[in-house]
Amino acid sequence: MKKSAVVLLVVVLFIAMAGFSHGRLSPVLQIMLARLGWIQSIVTELSMSNFEGLKNHADLLAADAQKAGEGAPAESPPQNFNYKLRDAARAMSDGASKKDGAMVVKQFGEAISACYACHAAGRDK
Ligand code: HEC
Repeated sequence: MKKSAVVLLVVVLFIAMAGFSHGRLSPVLQIMLARLGWIQSIVTELSMSNFEGLKNHADLLAADAQKAGEGAPAESPPQNFNYKLRDAARAMSDGASKKDGAMVVKQFGEAISACYACHAAGRDK
């Protein structure tokens, strides 16, 4: 990923989060803000080649997506999107273990596309 793309992504994520910093949040939004936080951490750690920190956050994201997927109805779109996110987060973690930045970037794209796909599916209803 180009540096400018990373910077833009971080800015967009910060703006998205600012809107939710006040008031009481639903359980789903609390999960989403945690996910947003891990994604931000992963982008920052990637930009600094901090693979150890990156692995920690990818593991947290993977565990969260696994738990959410287990809680969703079997074979439902939410379960499938969460498992896609989990698989991408696990692959990011593997990439971090190997200090393979290119692999992390590729799997980051997969993870974000799982976020996007679930949000887009929700909006269609
Ligand atoms: C399985 C479905 C699903 C996946 C995967 C998912 N989300 Fe969400 N997300 C939702 C739903 C549903 C909402 C709306 C919750 C509400 O309004 O109560 C939401 C809302 C959000 C919001 C609040 C902004 C808004 O438009 O309401 C953020 C930020 C967010 N998600 C971040 C993420 C990130 C980052 C990822 C990926 C790492 C992710 N989400 C993956 C279902 C998902």
